[in-house]
Amino acid sequence: MRKIQFFDTTLRDGEQTPGVNFNTKEKIQIAMQLEKWGIDVIEAGFPIASQGDFEAVKAIAESAKRMTVVGLARCQKKDIDRAYEALKNAVDPQIHTFLATSNVHMEYKLKMTKEEVIASIKEHVGYARTLFEKVQFSPEDASRTDRDFLLEAVQTAIDAGATIINVPDTVGYSNPTEYGGIFKYLIENIKSDQEITFSSHCHDDLGMATANALAAIENGANRVEGAVNGIGERAGNTALEEVALALHIRKDFYGCESNIVLNETKRTSDLVSRLSGIPVPRNKAIIGDNAYAHESGIHQDGVLKNPETYEIITPTLVGVSQNSLPLGKLSGRHAFVEKLKELGYQLSEEETKAAFIRFKDLADKKKQITDQDLIALLTDQSREESETCKLANVQVQYSSGGYQGAIVSIIDAEGTTKVASKIGSGSIQAIYNAIDELFQHDPQLAEYEIQAITGGEDAQAEVRVTLNDRETKQVFRGIGIDFDVLQASAKAYIQASNQMKEQE
Ligand code: KIV
Ligand code: ZN
Repeated sequence: MRKIQFFDTTLRDGEQTPGVNFNTKEKIQIAMQLEKWGIDVIEAGFPIASQGDFEAVKAIAESAKRMTVVGLARCQKKDIDRAYEALKNAVDPQIHTFLATSNVHMEYKLKMTKEEVIASIKEHVGYARTLFEKVQFSPEDASRTDRDFLLEAVQTAIDAGATIINVPDTVGYSNPTEYGGIFKYLIENIKSDQEITFSSHCHDDLGMATANALAAIENGANRVEGAVNGIGERAGNTALEEVALALHIRKDFYGCESNIVLNETKRTSDLVSRLSGIPVPRNKAIIGDNAYAHESGIHQDGVLKNPETYEIITPTLVGVSQNSLPLGKLSGRHAFVEKLKELGYQLSEEETKAAFIRFKDLADKKKQITDQDLIALLTDQSREESETCKLANVQVQYSSGGYQGAIVSIIDAEGTTKVASKIGSGSIQAIYNAIDELFQHDPQLAEYEIQAITGGEDAQAEVRVTLNDRETKQVFRGIGIDFDVLQASAKAYIQASNQMKEQE
């Protein structure tokens, strides 16, 4: 059976989702989970983009044990050198160079002629090859590129030393028949003494990213690029979990396999959703809450008689509801540490100590601590540790008529406590007005969502907010988790406010 390599770009293209900003610790945590999930190649970032990106790529390069670690680079020497510096200690480093080849990109964005683009590919892929064994080249906006010129650009990259050719549908413009046809055309027409790996990279603007990736595989691509939960620029990238399951469930049709450990899928998705702040829609294929729920009587009857009547994927196959050992008030440190290991966390002694205190506090209020509760608790702890200003206290004065009042205190980076009091039409508005006063800003609250982390009366609340900077239009997201809805709301808003402050 053909083996399809899975290339994950959650930390690069996925991080290009508006409002998504992973810190280095979160990136390493996601990378380690991706390795457990069976990802073959991870695009850890764009090293030249910022010092933070450089450090994260370097840290992942030094931690990955099995995965190939990739850094993105434009066709510029300084990008390639920076990627080399970040990746040189990786077990298996790879560079991903790209240059646009469509007429609209060359004319308006690059202001380069076809001849200049070809010369640049030759020069920079050649240079990258002097530093890296594995060089990938992407003709950006390939799906809107003239076919003959696309072939010329790809052939130039191969002649200069690239052995991996990625074909991006940069703006999500293509469809399965057309996109598959591009692979067929390139594979039939390139000339090379070496084996060339063809890779798909699709965006979901027309809702066809997964279908296009599968069409590429049908037409000879042996590598698929995408992101967990399909996050990414605009409508996002191919959702890798969808491709993994499609190949598995329809092995009869595709005749391909992968290294993906399917029962790590839900855990991987949950982690990315929590750390990115992008919720997974309930009806999302494979990992949405409703994906395994049967509502109609006819369906329920059928599933009870034989699950295969309406279920093509069993929830356990993708790791849904694998709450093997729920913890409770009487669970000791040993059981807690074992659970952390089972969930894939590697915490320092100090972090474990802090997490155990939080866990005990939670267990006092909640009878059974599920995996979801623990993941939420650890995410909350890790986010709070990296925050510049932390929530100290919230006090609300409620009246069933008229305005509500709130007093909020925060501790800033110097350890100074600052207090503000404000009124609002509702308690949450009063709290948010007080926080705005403390941060001295006035963002627009674009989204406010609240949901229970688990079922049951004693469930914790998870609040997600999105703030828009009125001037720069930048988007900032925050998540707050707590038993109390008001406290969770304050935490989420402070998290997003901290990020906004850092950008000023
Ligand atoms: O969508 C795209 O074209 C990209 C390239 C950098 C590969 O993300
Ligand atoms: Zn992309």
